[in-house]
Amino acid sequence: MSEPIRITRATHKKEKPKDKDLSFGTVFTDHMFVMDFEEEKGWYDPRVEPYGAFPLDPATAVLHYGQSLFEGLKAFRGKDGTIRLFRPQKHVERLNRTAHRMSIPALDPEVVFKSWTTVVDVDRAWVPASVGTSLYIRPTVIASEPFLGVRPAKRYLYYVILSPVGPYYPEGLAPTKIKVIDNYVRAVAGGLGEAKTAANYAASLYAAEEAKHEGFTQVLWLDGVQHKYIEEVGTSNIMLRIGDEVITPPLSGTILAGVTRDTALTLMRGWGVRVAERPITIDEAVAAAENGTLREVWATGTAAVISPVGELAYKGRRLVVNQGRIGELAQKLYDTIVAIQYGEAPDPHRWTVAV
Ligand code: COI
Repeated sequence: MSEPIRITRATHKKEKPKDKDLSFGTVFTDHMFVMDFEEEKGWYDPRVEPYGAFPLDPATAVLHYGQSLFEGLKAFRGKDGTIRLFRPQKHVERLNRTAHRMSIPALDPEVVFKSWTTVVDVDRAWVPASVGTSLYIRPTVIASEPFLGVRPAKRYLYYVILSPVGPYYPEGLAPTKIKVIDNYVRAVAGGLGEAKTAANYAASLYAAEEAKHEGFTQVLWLDGVQHKYIEEVGTSNIMLRIGDEVITPPLSGTILAGVTRDTALTLMRGWGVRVAERPITIDEAVAAAENGTLREVWATGTAAVISPVGELAYKGRRLVVNQGRIGELAQKLYDTIVAIQYGEAPDPHRWTVAV
């Protein structure tokens, strides 16, 4: 039996934004979930508290060496009022895979799942209702020991914050302009590319910022060794529809095992679409664009769900995909996933869990 969760309710409630004003990750709810780890005790004292700052010693290990992890999943309010988490089990599993890679002590999957349902339930009034909005759940672990030696910490803090969100990209579902990066490296096999940890994202910032200044929405990463194989778009997985096949790079250690990636692959296989998880070079994509067989490109991620790519810039060339419009399969995936998330379509794979 796991330790019961203590709940301390906020006495002051914040004002909630209107659904139409929601963007991504700027507003936080009234409560958060917190749990501590000490070497002698293991994970202990699971609790829900009013949302607030943590006092951190300036020597706190995470601030120096980035020993941390995070996850990101969403809760949706259906028209029937039911609040559903989307594929929480997958996120629990990935959280512990990242913990392992980051030398962070494993968390009890049941406690992690309970932490999400409990804090979402306490703040259920914050789950927005319009289609395109949701409550983003951000579980995080940080090394909280004040210590400057380079080794895994002996103390950690697990916390979960909640943020009502709208679209991740201001473009919404409008196709994005993407710059292909061949002069910076985000990850190599054996590195942190498949871990949902701060350093993986820190490594992506400089190139993304440079691309933004040049008028692009995001970057497309190539492999870190040969700068040849397509890896991912920004922080999302990528899928290319070439001829009658949908191709996505394999999970070979440099990219995140996206939950939306898995969802899209499962749906497409169920629809009889030919899908291949295989290495694909940027040259193959360029050739397909030139001979007219590159029909669609889209990114998949929890935050943006499906984000169509309208243009790829590579070595001074601009490849326009599907005349810059969202493609038929990307649209079908978006509509199907969203319908399941809001409880408006059957959920044969049991991906949603009601809170
Ligand atoms: C996602 O959910 O697709 C992301 O990776 C974005 C997140 C890190 C804000």
